Amino acid sequence: MYLKKLVLINFKNIAQAEVALSERINCFVGDNGAGKTNVLDAVYYLSMSKSAFNMTDGQSVRHGEEFFVVEGTYAGDGGACDTVNCSFLKRSGKVLKLNGKEYGRMADHVGRFPVVMVSPQDSVLITDAAEERRRYLNAFLSQLDRSYLAAVMRYNAVLAERNRFLKGSSDEQMLAIYDMQLAEHAALIYERRRDIVERMQPLVAEYYRVLSGDRERVMIEYRSELASASMNDLLLASRERDIVNGFTTSGVHRDDMSLRIGGYPLRKYGSQGQQKSFLMALKLAQCNILAAACGERPLLLFDDLFDKLDTSRVENLLGLVSGDGFGQIFITDCNRSRLETILSRAGKRYALFTVEGGDIRS
Ligand SMILES: Nc1ncnc2c1ncn2[C@@H]1O[C@H](COP(=O)(O)OP(=O)(O)OP(=O)(O)O)[C@@H](O)[C@H]1O
Ligand SMILES: [Mg+2]
Repeated sequence: MYLKKLVLINFKNIAQAEVALSERINCFVGDNGAGKTNVLDAVYYLSMSKSAFNMTDGQSVRHGEEFFVVEGTYAGDGGACDTVNCSFLKRSGKVLKLNGKEYGRMADHVGRFPVVMVSPQDSVLITDAAEERRRYLNAFLSQLDRSYLAAVMRYNAVLAERNRFLKGSSDEQMLAIYDMQLAEHAALIYERRRDIVERMQPLVAEYYRVLSGDRERVMIEYRSELASASMNDLLLASRERDIVNGFTTSGVHRDDMSLRIGGYPLRKYGSQGQQKSFLMALKLAQCNILAAACGERPLLLFDDLFDKLDTSRVENLLGLVSGDGFGQIFITDCNRSRLETILSRAGKRYALFTVEGGDIRS
């Protein structure tokens, strides 16, 4: 499956565009603020029905306009085509259609046309608090498994209620009810996260090895209190403390992923390029797992390809993703000749588009 045609109307700074895409490598080049990232975000919208960058639907409507339309035509392996149309009107909201038919629930669409984006903003995954890493795991697992998303939503709802309750009361019977509900959802959340990180670990290590030209070794590990005790026991053990603090101090809402390079914490001891390489390896691992689960190779969106990477790592990356395991690729960069040089040196065929003031030209 690949995106054959992309049509945009009033999407961010792009008034109108129609782009015929290559099955393999698509490059978007242009100056800062031209609209390159916006093109990738539009592709992301088609798969996830939302922005990759924490922008609301309303913020994605071109200034001064009332609506946006993003439409994509995907060609399947057998030659059949699917058209996804995502439109948003400020007045009436968002509508998502597959081949002209509106979805009952947006969630039914997620995972059908899998996509993985790597952008400079992902660095928060390494540098920020555990919450970012949980958010990443939640988003990834939600694309794979709807029961996971449901469990996370219920867990969070009960947790919020328990915390509110703890502010004003210490009634043990009520707490026992909350604890039972939390324990039920926590078990599923813990298992899914532990399993996915275990699957990712060898893939991340191998992709990183290739990207770095065999220079460094990295590892990823899931950290949870649930590895050594059940959620019920944890909640019982921390009950006194929770009552004093007025919130829930134990559980899967405190889990984290440990990221290491050469045995040391990546956040502290990884250089910027090493951290970026790690993010790339992580996303490639995600792509690999999604491909196996969805039966489709995800679209890979590399925003600002050269951000923090040296030439040899970019070459190693292109070598990896142009192999059979990966499908269609979108790349943005502000330096056209740098990108052209590296792609032609690698002997890769590609389509190149110039973006300027929201105009896209081939
Ligand atoms: N809703 C909107 N309406 C109009 N313009 C918008 C809207 N949202 C974002 N923009 C503008 O789109 C422009 C292009 O943004 P984009 O992030 O795509 O640039 P870019 O080509 O990726 O640049 P860089 O090389 O700096 O990453 C920015 O000037 C931004 O202000
Ligand atoms: Mg950009």
